[in-house]
Amino acid sequence: MIEPTIEEALGKQINQEFTAAYNYLGMAAYFDSQSLDGFANWMQIQHDEEVAHGMRLFRYLLDRGGKIELKGIPAPQTEYANPIDVFERALEQEVDNSKSINKLYQQATEANDFATKSHLQWFLDEQVEEEKSIEDIIAMLRLAKDDVSALLFLNDKLGSRVPEQEGGIAASE
Ligand SMILES: [Fe+2]
Ligand SMILES: [Fe+2]
Repeated sequence: MIEPTIEEALGKQINQEFTAAYNYLGMAAYFDSQSLDGFANWMQIQHDEEVAHGMRLFRYLLDRGGKIELKGIPAPQTEYANPIDVFERALEQEVDNSKSINKLYQQATEANDFATKSHLQWFLDEQVEEEKSIEDIIAMLRLAKDDVSALLFLNDKLGSRVPEQEGGIAASE
């Protein structure tokens, strides 16, 4: 069985992962509307990864005999000023999510819930990757400034992103 405080915190984290997924989908829609299909591809894969994160926690909570309460997800933003604006918002979201995972880890520590800590280890590592990849894109966008050919080069680069097996739903089984 699982402690009610951890059960509730995991439930909140599930919601946060699916909210992040939906926000990334809004970002994908924005990039598609700007004819930046490579950026849209990157955001769509980001969406899929967040769904996989939500599912990892969903299955874990069920495996521990926890009760799942699925809460609502707010409508995502689909209008942005420019590509940097989108990635700054994405970074903000990932930083918030890292804080949330850290808090959850701390709660699991206080509750002596070693299994939850072990499960969260993967998420701690994943957040480091998430923040780094978005920071790298922001840095490249800053270098590109108003140079359209640099933006299109970046669009091509992000268009070549393919879904990772690790971290996907298949890998969590
Ligand atoms: Fe996530
Ligand atoms: Fe993420």
